[in-house]
Parts: sequence; C-alpha cells; structure tokens
Amino acid sequence: MNKISIVGAGRVGESTAQILAQRDVCHDLVLLDVRDGAAAGAALDIRQSAAAHRFDCRLTGGADPALLAGSDLVIVTAGSPRKPGMSRSDVLNVNRAVIDSVVDQVLEHAPDCMLMLVTNPVDVLTWHAWKRTGWDRRRVFGQAGVLDAARMASFLAEETGISVRDVHTMVIGGHGDSMVPLTRFSTINGLPVTTFVDEKTIEYINEKTRHGGAEVLEMRQHSSAYNAPAAAVATMVDAINSNRDRLLSCVCVLDGEYGQRDITAGVPAILGREGIRRIIDLPLDETERRGFQASVDSIVNDIKSL
Ligand code: 2OP
Repeated sequence: MNKISIVGAGRVGESTAQILAQRDVCHDLVLLDVRDGAAAGAALDIRQSAAAHRFDCRLTGGADPALLAGSDLVIVTAGSPRKPGMSRSDVLNVNRAVIDSVVDQVLEHAPDCMLMLVTNPVDVLTWHAWKRTGWDRRRVFGQAGVLDAARMASFLAEETGISVRDVHTMVIGGHGDSMVPLTRFSTINGLPVTTFVDEKTIEYINEKTRHGGAEVLEMRQHSSAYNAPAAAVATMVDAINSNRDRLLSCVCVLDGEYGQRDITAGVPAILGREGIRRIIDLPLDETERRGFQASVDSIVNDIKSL
C-alpha cells in the first residue's frame, strides 16, 4: 500500500504505527488524533527509530483530518478504552460519537479507502461505520478474532508445552464475554487439540481466552492491552498489503452467512487486497451454533441501543 492512516494515537494506535513502520509496509503512515501534539509527538518519536530499525516509511502526525487524503487503508483505534470492571459495551455511546466523526472525515478525505475498525465495542461499531459509509461490505471490517485466536494459541502453547508456532486457533462471534473459541476447528500442526489436553483444560483455556483482555486490564488497572492488539492489527494489514488472501477471523458484515443478515460478527474470512474476499460458513455443531447465536444476540442488543 502507498498510504495507511491510523486514527487514534493512544497506546494501540501508537504501537500499531511502530510495528507497521518497522515492517516498512507503506510509503506514508499517518497518525491522526484530536490531540494534535500526541499524534505529532508519537510520529516524531517513531521517525527517530528509523535509523535503528532501517525503515524508510514516512510518518506524519497531527489533528488535521486532511492528513487522511489518499489513504488506501484507515485503521480506527480512537475512542475511550474501558476501565477495570467495565464491559466493552459500556463504552458504546461515547465511542459511537467518535466513530461518527471519524467516518465523516474518512468520507470527505479518503472516500476510496478500506476501513478497519479496532475501537470497542468493535462488532457494533463496525456495523455502525459500515451503515454510515454505505460502502460495499468487503471494504469495512474489524479486528477482534485475530487477537482472540492469538490469546487462545498462547494459552494452548503454555498448557501443552508446544511451540505457539504450531498452534492454529479459531475464535468467532463477538469480541466480548460471549465470544466462541472453536476448539473443534483448532489444531496443533493439524492434530486435534484433544490429542494434547483434556476437556477440563480446554474449558480453562476457553475461559482465559474470553477474559484475555479483561485480565490484562485488571492487572494494569490504568491501561487495556495494546501489544497483542497492535500485533493483531499488523497481521491483518500484512494480509491486505501483500494480498495474501489469509484465512483470518475478522469482524465482517454478514449477508446470509451463518443464517444472519445485516449484522456484524467475527467469522473466518479470506482477507486480501480488496478486503474481505469471502466469508467461510463453517458447519457448526449445535453447541457452537448456540454459542454463536448468543453472541450475535448480544451484538444485536447493543445495535438497538445505538
Ligand atoms: C482487548 O481485548 C482492548 O478489546 C481489547 O484487549
């Protein structure tokens, strides 16, 4: 890609910018934030790591929405993070206003870009942004499942003592307590997870996965997770940038898949240069289907409260 913009120079936005710059994924990288100095300072700081990391990517930061002009991809991390004890839905109303304003700036300055939502509650806000843009659903998607699957993989690697490189996991549904870790579709280098762990351990791993973000927040108290979220965003950017057509769990607008319409949820999808190329409709068993439906119901509830 020629130009990527990150809206929100908070911890997730800044960490994402650092990773993307180090990987030299684009010619121009913009950090946009209503706090002009925070964005400009972060861009300057990262620019000063270029000699050490050997990258040419040009970073600019500031508060002027015109900085978005010409972006191929806009990643939205702006908004209020939750505080300890809060659910992601508790920040819906304050973040909805943020997304309204960001989407309007994108429509004005970067009408041809792809839009990746990261701000929570990400499923609901991806739906909201998609509606507000009126764009093809392939161009508006969110990051959640890559992070949740990475958390599940790290817990599986810890429990089995096998390298995380060989662990492949899949998590679908909403990015909240009702997310659905799919053990049946997760493997350790092709071998079923049940070869290595018993039912009790699987339930423990699934529970840890569902509360992966909350556990970090509880420990830190003053900050949500940002290293793993930024790495997950960078994984999706790489899939798009290198047109890899990777199969990743993404927040997608559903149009008949999984029996759902006009709703967003995390589902496996093929992600490449044009965005969401295809959604994979997994044959869920009864328990998985019920879990997914419960997750969708909670997203629908939040959408109704918008
Ligand atoms: C997380 O799961 C903040 O939603 C983000 O860490």
